[in-house]
Amino acid sequence: MNKTWTELLDRAYEAKKNAYVPYFGFHVGAALLGENGRIYTGANIEGASFGVTVCAERTAIYKAVTEGVQKFKAIAVLSDSEEIIYPCGICRQVLSDFVEDDFTVICGNSKKEYKVLTFGELLPNCRIPI
Ligand code: THU
Repeated sequence: MNKTWTELLDRAYEAKKNAYVPYFGFHVGAALLGENGRIYTGANIEGASFGVTVCAERTAIYKAVTEGVQKFKAIAVLSDSEEIIYPCGICRQVLSDFVEDDFTVICGNSKKEYKVLTFGELLPNCRIPI
């Protein structure tokens, strides 16, 4: 296994412990690798008005961006489930502002088993020419 991917999965696994999930009870963790070599972690934060819920991936992205980092190499995401999870549509759209098509997306499960995709595979044809 690629050493960077292992580290990102480990950090995502740790990050999911801080998820705030009183409604779904579904812990998700993410670890985002910046081009600066730093890792930004995130967990999902739910709200009683379900629309306010923020996924683990977006938490990690927003943490990094608000610390001045806008260029990224890879993200890992995993949950409590034995099923591999993949970023939701909103997170894919948010990622599209910050990553190129060759950005690496590591989708894992609770056993740290994983599948690797490129962002271009995850959300093809998403660039808006404005
Ligand atoms: N969730 C994430 O944090 N990331 C994903 O990729 C999928 C879904 C969260 C949102 C909500 O708290 C719970 O998982 C169920 O959708």
